[in-house]
Amino acid sequence: MRRKHLVFIVIVLFLSWNMLMYMTVVNKGPSTLPKEANRAQDKLALLQHEIEEQLDSNKHLLDELQQNQKAKESNTVVTQAPPKDVKPNQTGTSENKLSYRDPDSAVLPILMIACDREDAVSRSLDLVLKYRPDEKRFPVIVSQDCGHRPTAQRIQKYVVEHGITHIQQPDLSSPNVPWPQKKFEGYYKISRHYKWALNQIFHVFNHSAVIIVEDDLDISPDFYEYFAATYRILTVDKSLWCVSAWNDNGKRDMVKDDPELLHRTDFFPGLGWMLDRSLWLELGPKWPETFWDDWMRHPDQRKNRSCIRPELSRTSTFGKIGVSKGLFFDKHLKFIQLNDKLVPFTKRDLSYLVKENYDPKFREYIYGLPEVSVSDVNTGSRKQLPDVRIQYSTKQQFKDIAKQLGIMDDFKAGVERTAYMGVVSFTYKGQRVNVAPPSDWKGYDPSWG
Ligand code: UD1
Ligand code: MN
Repeated sequence: MRRKHLVFIVIVLFLSWNMLMYMTVVNKGPSTLPKEANRAQDKLALLQHEIEEQLDSNKHLLDELQQNQKAKESNTVVTQAPPKDVKPNQTGTSENKLSYRDPDSAVLPILMIACDREDAVSRSLDLVLKYRPDEKRFPVIVSQDCGHRPTAQRIQKYVVEHGITHIQQPDLSSPNVPWPQKKFEGYYKISRHYKWALNQIFHVFNHSAVIIVEDDLDISPDFYEYFAATYRILTVDKSLWCVSAWNDNGKRDMVKDDPELLHRTDFFPGLGWMLDRSLWLELGPKWPETFWDDWMRHPDQRKNRSCIRPELSRTSTFGKIGVSKGLFFDKHLKFIQLNDKLVPFTKRDLSYLVKENYDPKFREYIYGLPEVSVSDVNTGSRKQLPDVRIQYSTKQQFKDIAKQLGIMDDFKAGVERTAYMGVVSFTYKGQRVNVAPPSDWKGYDPSWG
C-alpha cells in the first residue's frame, strides 16, 4: 500500500512536471517568436529608411556641388528654377505671392565685395553691422577675391562673432588680358569677381534682391531704411533697374541740406546699390570681362532705365588706395558728403518717385523755371531766385558750364553724371541750379562720350 502510494505520487509529480513544461512552452512560444520577428522587421525598415535618407541627402549634395561648379565656371549662368515663392506669374496661394510681393518682408542681403584690404573690410563691416536693424532681413555676405590670408582671417572673426557669411571667389588665375590692356588687369579681376559673387547670391543662396557694397565704403545711419523703402518702388516700377546710395555731385555745399530728398537718374551711379533677381537673370549671362560699371551704362544694357539716387549720399568711399589709384579720390571722391541723419524712409510715401507720377511734375518744374546764364549763377546776380535753369544744347556747352560751376563734366554713353532727362540738378551758393537741354530734347547722344 505504501509503495503503491509512492508510485502514485511519483506519477502525479511526473505528469504535473510535464504539464507545467508544456504550459510554459505553449504560453511563452507564441508571444516571444513574433516579437523577435517584429523587431527584426522594424530594424529592416529603419535601415531602409536610413539608406533612403542618405541617398536623398547625397543627391542634394551632388546637386549643390554641381550648382556651385556651374556658378564657379559661370561662363554660362546657372539656369536653376527659382524657388516657389519668386515665380513671377505663379498661381499659388496669396501667402506665397505676398512673401515675394510684400516689399516689407523681402530679405535684402548685403553683399560686400572684398579683396586684400583687411582694415578697410573691418571699417566697412563695423558700420554695416552697427546700423543693421534686423539680421534675418539683412544677412551679410562678404565675398572675397584675391585669396589674401590676413583679410580672410579678419572676415572669419566676423563670421564667429556676428554670424556673417564668408565666401571666396575660387578662380585666382591671371585673367586673359590682351597685352595693351595689361595695366587694366585689376578691372578684369573685379568684373570676374562680381559675376561669381552675384551668381552665388541669386543661384546658390537664391535671394530675390541684393544690396552691393564694396569694402571701402562707409554707410549712413539710414542706409537700411533707404533701401528697404525704395525696394517697394523698384519692384513696382519697371522703368527702374537700380537704387543707388550715391550722388556723383554730392559734395558739401553742392547739395541741398535735405536728407529726405530723393531723385531719379539715368546715370548708373553704383557705389552702394540694389538690384533684383530679374535684372541679374538678364545681365548675368552676358556679364563683361572688364569695366562692368561702364558696360552697364551702355544703352544695350541700360535700355532707358533709371535708378533712384539720394540728394545726400548714403555711402562715401575712403578707398584712396585701390585699383584706380588715388588721383580721382583726391580730386573728387573724398569730398562727397555722407548723410548723418536718420530718415525713416519706410514711413514715407515714396510713390512720387514712380515714373508716371514723377516725369510730368519734373518737366513742369524744370521748364517752368526762369532761365539764367552761367555767369548769373557764378556772380550771384540773380540771387533772389531760389531755383533757376541754365540751358545747354551741345556737349561743349555742358562741359563749360560744368567746369565753371564745379560739377562733374564727363559723359558715359552720352549721359552726364546724375542726369535725368538730360537735366543735372545741384546747389550752387545756396541757389538750386538745373542745367537742362531745350524742352524739345530728343534723348541722350552716345557719341557725346
Ligand atoms: C572702381 C569703382 C568701383 C568699381 C570698379 C570697377 C569707384 C570709387 N570705385 O574701383 O565701384 O567696381 O572701379 O569698375 O568709382 N576687388 C576685387 N578683386 C581685385 C581687386 C579689387 O574683388 O582683384 C574689389 C575690391 O575689394 C573692391 C572693388 O573690387 O570692393 C573695387 O576695387 P577698388 O580697389 O576699390 O577699386 P576702385 O578704383 O575704387
Ligand atoms: Mn574703391
